[in-house]
Amino acid sequence: MAAFSTVDDVRERLAATGYLAGESIATTAFLADRLEKPLLVEGPAGVGKTELAKAVAVATGAELVRLQCYEGLDEARALYEWNYKKQLLRIQASRDDSAWDQVHDDVFGEDFLLDRPLLAAIRRAEPTVLLIDEVDKADLEMEGLLLEVLSDFQVSIPELGTITAVRRPFVVLTSNASRELSEALKRRCLYLHMDYPTPQREREIVLARVPQAAERLAEQVVRTVTALRGLELRKAPSIAETIDWARTLVALDRDELDSETVRGTLGVVLKNVADQERAVEALSLG
Ligand SMILES: Nc1ncnc2c1ncn2[C@@H]1O[C@H](COP(=O)(O)OP(=O)(O)OP(=O)(O)O)[C@@H](O)[C@H]1O
Ligand SMILES: [Mg+2]
Repeated sequence: MAAFSTVDDVRERLAATGYLAGESIATTAFLADRLEKPLLVEGPAGVGKTELAKAVAVATGAELVRLQCYEGLDEARALYEWNYKKQLLRIQASRDDSAWDQVHDDVFGEDFLLDRPLLAAIRRAEPTVLLIDEVDKADLEMEGLLLEVLSDFQVSIPELGTITAVRRPFVVLTSNASRELSEALKRRCLYLHMDYPTPQREREIVLARVPQAAERLAEQVVRTVTALRGLELRKAPSIAETIDWARTLVALDRDELDSETVRGTLGVVLKNVADQERAVEALSLG
């Protein structure tokens, strides 16, 4: 049961949620849906990787189940965990009158299982978008676990058996490419490299997200941000920062971006002193 009918359908429905997707984003999202393959989105910070998953969820009326990855994330947080407290209570309550086998079967049953995001997403019968965010931050062992889940859409629980997805979720994995992901994981996914948008698209994004901004202002903001990205900065401004800048200028009642305003609000786009100094020099604001 595909969620999208054509590539244009993807673009239009994402746009209706405020997410403006270019050709490659719309095409890859369409294919991920059609082929029921996880979508791995890699790219610099703040280019719209996480937002894509959220937008797909809104556009398709699906629920977003999110697994935020971090160093040390383990199976108990990602997949499932037994509810120890409840198991203990059950065992204590039946200390005298039940046979051990019976108690054992009971405490390793459904009622004592705590779903974590991966299992929860697989078990849902309703449309689901599973966002596995910042997968490059998790340890390598986590990738092994993801492999099983993402290739067969199933989870084996030794005490319970194998749980297979009733309905495959639309899976989005994001990565900042802080490390190379395993070939095995990549092979199971469709790959999308997301980069900064064209100035034209970024202007549309700004106007969609900050409708109060004057067109001329949006254009100046985007032109300046594009110039900043061209400098060799430690941290180039992202789309999120372009949007914040436009919001700031609207809040300050500016409908034009002059040198003084740029200098006064540079902290919204560049969050590093060396970068700010470099920008002031390069844009001749000093
Ligand atoms: N194509 C787009 N259309 C509309 N808004 C966008 C688009 N891309 C990005 N944005 C805006 O940029 C913000 C940042 O995007 P997002 O949080 O998805 O970045 P990210 O790539 O996940 O960054 P990080 O790697 O830091 O997590 C979003 O909140 C959204 O408002
Ligand atoms: Mg993100």
